[in-house]
Amino acid sequence: MLVLGIESSCDETGVALVDASGQNVPRLLSHALFSQIDMHQAYGGVVPELASRDHIRRVLPLTREVMQGAQRSLAEVDVIAYTRGPGLAGALLVGAGVACSLAASLGKPVMGVHHLEGHLLSPFLSADPPEFPFVALLVSGGHTQLMRVDRVGSYELLGETIDDAAGEAFDKSAKLMGLPYPGGPHLSKLALGGDGAAFKLPRPLLHSGNLDFSFAGLKTAVLTQAKKLGAELDSRKADLAASTQAAIVEVLVKKTLAAMSQTGLKRLVVAGGVGANALLRGQLNAACKQRGIRVHYPELEFCTDNGAMIALAAGMRLQAGLVNLQVLQKGYTFDVKPRWNLAELQREPALAG
Ligand code: KG4
Ligand code: ZN
Repeated sequence: MLVLGIESSCDETGVALVDASGQNVPRLLSHALFSQIDMHQAYGGVVPELASRDHIRRVLPLTREVMQGAQRSLAEVDVIAYTRGPGLAGALLVGAGVACSLAASLGKPVMGVHHLEGHLLSPFLSADPPEFPFVALLVSGGHTQLMRVDRVGSYELLGETIDDAAGEAFDKSAKLMGLPYPGGPHLSKLALGGDGAAFKLPRPLLHSGNLDFSFAGLKTAVLTQAKKLGAELDSRKADLAASTQAAIVEVLVKKTLAAMSQTGLKRLVVAGGVGANALLRGQLNAACKQRGIRVHYPELEFCTDNGAMIALAAGMRLQAGLVNLQVLQKGYTFDVKPRWNLAELQREPALAG
């Protein structure tokens, strides 16, 4: 069964084709991505209207590229999947509109996918996929969550951020330091030449006794420190970047280890853009090795937004029998869900079938 996936929730247009035949993990046949980062950089962040317009320009050429790359025709596609949410409403509508129009013209079923489920399952695209059950640390630009995952479609929230996401903490702190958008990769690169212990920054909720996070106070502390440094900031920027990164990573690692102890599970999946961070990976790997925990990451190219994880999540839902194709086939009306809790997924009639 061939599943075409379209991702357009934020500033990346991604399209991919997977083969979800049988019960093996869906196999990625081809994928293509266009990142709008260069366009948004001039504004220091994503401009939603520009994002939507660019998705419109990219999505069909990328789809053609994917079909050519896989040497398949659209007529051979069995299901078309798109990111239904969460994300920017206008951007989501582009993917949803194109997916539904394509599906209607081909007479094929169409399926809305939860973006975070895509991130969560993205390590299944790697050569050494995880086994269920596992704990997932989801760290993206908009979300910071710890989940217990028992199988496809079974996601129990263990803890989450009460304000900013970890990626947001990276991005906002980087912006305060005058670094380009998106701040995460730029800040971590700058941090390589700095001392993570140079400045004492807060580790919010580190000892809260639960698995929730809070990062809003950190950027205020970074701002205060930057102001204090004044003209000295330029020469101490690498130290400030390293200290900021150390604070974010320490909280993520401590809470993740607490989630591992609480659940007693021995497998961890780290997904979302911040999962590309080298310090986070290094510290998690070392701590998990000591405790006999296997850590799985998506391939680096599938850490940030992409179409492959959307096609994969749709394929895995179909294989798990969570989606009733007959229900999907009934109509091509669509909506998008800019705000959408992953735990609500179990209760979605259109997806559960
Ligand atoms: O998952 P993603 O591509 O998009 C969302 O769904 O939000 O994550 C993007 C986030 C941004 O905040 C970006 O700064 C962060 O991931 N990021 C990183 C790194 N690479 C991307 N943060 C820290 N270190 C990195 N190497
Ligand atoms: Zn994402």
